[in-house]
Amino acid sequence: MIKTLQNLFARLRPSTVSANPLEPFKMTTILHIDSSILGGYSVSRSLTAEIVAKQQALHPGARVIRRDLVVDAAMHLSDAHMAVFQGGEVGNAALGQDLATGGAYVDELFAADIIIIGAPMYNFTIPTQLKAWVDRVCVAGRTFKYGANGPEGLVTGKKVFVASARGGVYTGDSPAAAMEHQESYLKGVLAFIGLTDVTIIRAEGLALGEDAKTAAIAGAKAEIQALAA
Ligand SMILES: Cc1cc2nc3c(=O)[nH]c(=O)nc-3n(C[C@H](O)[C@H](O)[C@H](O)COP(=O)(O)O)c2cc1C
Repeated sequence: MIKTLQNLFARLRPSTVSANPLEPFKMTTILHIDSSILGGYSVSRSLTAEIVAKQQALHPGARVIRRDLVVDAAMHLSDAHMAVFQGGEVGNAALGQDLATGGAYVDELFAADIIIIGAPMYNFTIPTQLKAWVDRVCVAGRTFKYGANGPEGLVTGKKVFVASARGGVYTGDSPAAAMEHQESYLKGVLAFIGLTDVTIIRAEGLALGEDAKTAAIAGAKAEIQALAA
């Protein structure tokens, strides 16, 4: 069967045939995560929606896994979670359900080829819902491990897009730059688990008046439309 497909593909595209004959038939999986609490007013949600649409256009037939962390947030890690991680009993159904959600977060990360994360700045960092997701996907032995050379991320070979939205300006020589713990934190923790190919699509200065907001969103959307991969 594989031989037949290989022959067929070689005849169709003789100069671009892949080393893996099934490569052209592999379905792309996109993981779409939002964490804004502003619903229909959210800038990051509008940007992630456009990034998903753009990636679907670039990868026809792509499957999308959706995680709205506000509609369906994981619990904060607690003593009860830690007890289970140490081999204790799952004491109640809500905890069991929440542990299953955390496991699904990790499975989705591994399943995805492209990960698109809406990350607003709230109080100088990411929303607590997104932090709760981070707390569940940093799993020793699964998404990272410690070796002779220190920590090693295990979620590799994926592309990440972060839609960053914030009221102030933190880039360039902004005096607020030292308070930027949103993109820098997220990029750092993603790299820790192996996700180093991260593209930030940023709309900042959203609280600096309507003109500034319109220009920032238009700039971010133009960047999305210009994405070639
Ligand atoms: C609870 C809350 C906290 C915020 N904290 C900050 C902040 O610390 N710095 C900042 O520049 N903007 C802050 N903002 C403005 C948001 O970053 C801005 O509204 C952005 O559009 C949020 O993204 P979203 O529209 O996708 O929710 C805050 C907004 C909210 C609702």
